[in-house]
Amino acid sequence: MVTESFLTLPQLELPSAGGSITVTAPSNIALVKYWGKSQGQIPKNASISFTLSNCVTKTTLSYVPCSEQSKDVQGIDSAPDHSNFEVFVEGILKPDFAPKIATFFNRIEAYMPWIRSFQWRIDTENTFPHGSGIASSASGFAALAGALMELEDSWSIHPLTPELRAQKISFLARLGSGSASRSVLGPLMYWGTHPALPDSSDLYACVLEQEVHAVFKDYKDTILLVDQGEKEVSSTLGHNLMHDHPFAHQRFKQAQANLNKLLAVLAKGDTHEFCQIVESEALSLHAMMMTSNPSYLLMKPNTLAIIEKVRVFRRTHDIPVCFTLDAGANVHLLYPAECSPQLRPWIHNELSQHCQVGQFIEDQVGQGVKKG
Ligand code: PMV
Repeated sequence: MVTESFLTLPQLELPSAGGSITVTAPSNIALVKYWGKSQGQIPKNASISFTLSNCVTKTTLSYVPCSEQSKDVQGIDSAPDHSNFEVFVEGILKPDFAPKIATFFNRIEAYMPWIRSFQWRIDTENTFPHGSGIASSASGFAALAGALMELEDSWSIHPLTPELRAQKISFLARLGSGSASRSVLGPLMYWGTHPALPDSSDLYACVLEQEVHAVFKDYKDTILLVDQGEKEVSSTLGHNLMHDHPFAHQRFKQAQANLNKLLAVLAKGDTHEFCQIVESEALSLHAMMMTSNPSYLLMKPNTLAIIEKVRVFRRTHDIPVCFTLDAGANVHLLYPAECSPQLRPWIHNELSQHCQVGQFIEDQVGQGVKKG
């Protein structure tokens, strides 16, 4: 039904001259993980994440209208098509990004057919290393979807309501990268149908509107950069390995149950139970990778060293600090902002030893996509 409402194309007045728009979108860190999907970017279980604040992608989308002649010459309407855009990362042309963007454009064309009427230049920059396990595809596709939505809005005779607009950005971002659907708003977004969340959808993410305890509205995420290299196994491949995975069914059930528990924990402000659920989710995600066929390991010795230290520190100091992991070796350290003074020396002196060139990124929960 929602797909249909996005298919009802708005009445647009397309510009006859070129222009540009800049949008910034953050990454997010999942508390209950999405791992495994069906055709059409449909998740096998619901997930929930903190939207981040400092780990962002800034994308400037520049366009010039295609002349009818260039459409004929370049075959703008044929798919797959790499000819109506170029991608630049920090000013450098990146042809290797083209296939992903071409797939994205093909997927969203039904909802924004006007993308074929322009020649695009996509200029993008991240505040964090690409492919380091920090979800650059999440912030990247959220920024691109947000920029396209800004343009559609500005050309619409009757722009969408704010609610439908956010849903459409999330819907489009999902078609680029599933987790990108959760980077649109903040501080907490869920995606995927779940019985405890009546308005939940497999097609787009929603902001968690239920009562959330104040402690979770001011949470920190220190990202310990254990390995800044490119991931050895892509997320796309990892999701595919869930199709024939012997534990897949159980994993999807576990995630649904963990989301139920986490919703109660978020309302109550139970930070200790939060640590249990979040760590179990991170380890379950990596357990799926370790038991796939073929199996693979993304954690590094320093990932494990940090995990050990986090658990010992939590036990001995009774501070609700916990770890989580994305599809990579880096460790996200989650804790209430009020605990920062007690944790700072430990992070600087103890944990940074396990980071590549001692590097980590200080982040906190944020609010999602914004113009500029
Ligand atoms: O959005 P994708 O297809 O790159 O999948 C990433 C999934 C995880 O980041 C590992 C977990 C999640 O829910 O974000």
